[in-house]
Amino acid sequence: MFKRIPGTKDILPEETSSWQTVEAAARRIFAFYNYQEIRTPIIEEASLFNRTLGSTTEIVQKQMFLIHNQQDTYALRPEATASIVRSYLENNLEKTSGFTKLYYIGPMFRLERPQKGRLRQFHHIGAEAIGSGQASLDIEIISLAEQLLKNFGITGYKIKINSLGCLKDKQALSAALKKSLPEKLTRLCADCQLRAKHNVLRILDCKNQDCQKIVKTLNLESAHLCPDCLGHFQEVKCGLSDLGILFQVDPQLVRGLDYYNRTVFEITHSDLGSQNALGAGGRYNNLVRDLGGPELGAIGFAFGVERLLLVPNTLNQNSAKKLVYLITLGEAAKSAGIKILNQLRSAEISADMDYLNKSLKGAMRAANDAGATFVLILGDDELKMNTVSVKDMASGAQRQVAIQNLTEELK
Ligand code: HAM
Repeated sequence: MFKRIPGTKDILPEETSSWQTVEAAARRIFAFYNYQEIRTPIIEEASLFNRTLGSTTEIVQKQMFLIHNQQDTYALRPEATASIVRSYLENNLEKTSGFTKLYYIGPMFRLERPQKGRLRQFHHIGAEAIGSGQASLDIEIISLAEQLLKNFGITGYKIKINSLGCLKDKQALSAALKKSLPEKLTRLCADCQLRAKHNVLRILDCKNQDCQKIVKTLNLESAHLCPDCLGHFQEVKCGLSDLGILFQVDPQLVRGLDYYNRTVFEITHSDLGSQNALGAGGRYNNLVRDLGGPELGAIGFAFGVERLLLVPNTLNQNSAKKLVYLITLGEAAKSAGIKILNQLRSAEISADMDYLNKSLKGAMRAANDAGATFVLILGDDELKMNTVSVKDMASGAQRQVAIQNLTEELK
C-alpha cells in the first residue's frame, strides 16, 4: 500500500471544517481591510527564490523542492512573497493598480525535518501590501494579523517586533557583529560558526541557548539604525500602542529571509513547543527593485495554518451542521424518498439518506453517526397519506408532516 510522503498530511473530512472556517474568517477580515485575493502558481523558476530569499539562507540551501528538466530548474514555492512580487511586476500591477493590497491562501513546500508544527507541505494565509513605505502601512499589517487571530478565537499569543533598518543599517549591524564576535566564535554552535562567515545576522536569532547568551552580551538594541529608520520604527511602535496592540521589541529578531528590512515581526504561541511561530512578516523595501521593478516599499506576513489549528481556538464553535437524514422502508418509499431529498436540497437544506439498505435500527444508528438533527422516516403508511414522520434527534419527539409542507416545516 502506498503511504503519504513524510512531512505531508491528509486533511481528512473531520478536519476540513476547521480549515474552511479559518479560511472563511480570513477572507472576511481581508475584505474589511480591502485586500484582494491573488493565486500564483505553486511552481516557479528556482532562481526566483535564490535571488530574493538569499542564496545563503537555510531555505535556499537545504529546503527547496527542486524539479530539474532539460534546461530549467523549477522549485515548489517555499513561500509566496517572492512569487507575488514576480506576478506584480510581470502583470504590470504597479502601472495598473499602483499601490496594491493582496492576500493569499495556499500550500508551501520546504524540505525540512518533520516534527510537530513543521511539515514539508504546509499552508500559508498571508497578505502583501506593495507600493508604500509609510509606517501607517506597517501598523495596518500588524493590526490585520492580530485581527485575524482574534477572529480565529486564538488568545495567548505574543507579538515581537524589531527594525533591521535599511540596507546600510543592516550592513552596519553585520559589520559590528563580525567585529565583536571573533573572540566568542568558538563558543557558538556549529551552525553559527558557518553563519558568521555567510549570514552573520542569523546568529542573532539562533535558538541554541549558548549562542543566545553570547548574543545577549552584545547589547544590540537599536544602535545600528540611521535617524530615518529610527523615526520610522518609532512611528510604528507609537501607532501600535495607539491601537492598543501589545508587543515586545526584540532586538534579536532578524528573520530567516534576506529580503527583509526595517520592520520585522513574529507572532509566537507557547503551546506550539519548539516551532513556536504562528506567523511572521516584515518589510521588504528592496525586493520590487531587485526583481527589476521600481523602488517601492512593501510589507506583508504569513500565518502557518497547521499551527493556527494546533493552538486552542474557537474555530469550530459555531459550525454545528444541520443535517436531515431520510430513512425509507420499501422500494416505493425509496423512489419517493429520492424526490423528497432532491426537493430539500434544492431548498438549501442539507439532506442525506441510507444507501446501504440498512434495517430501520441500523439506519437510525447511521443517522446518529452522521450527526443528523432530524430524521425523516418514509414507509408504506406515510406514503399512502402523503406524509413523512419527522423525528427531532435532540428531543426524541416524532410527528407526521405533510410532504408538501416539509420544506417549510424543516426550515
Ligand atoms: P516564514 O516565517 O518563513 O515567513 O513563514 C511564515 C509562517 O509559516 C511561520 O511563522 C510558520 O507559522 C509557518 N511555517 C513555516 N515553515 C513551516 C513548516 N515547515 N511547517 C509548518 N509551518 C511552517 C514567510 O514565509 C514570509 N513569506 C512571510 C512574509 C510575507 N513576509 C513578508 N510577507
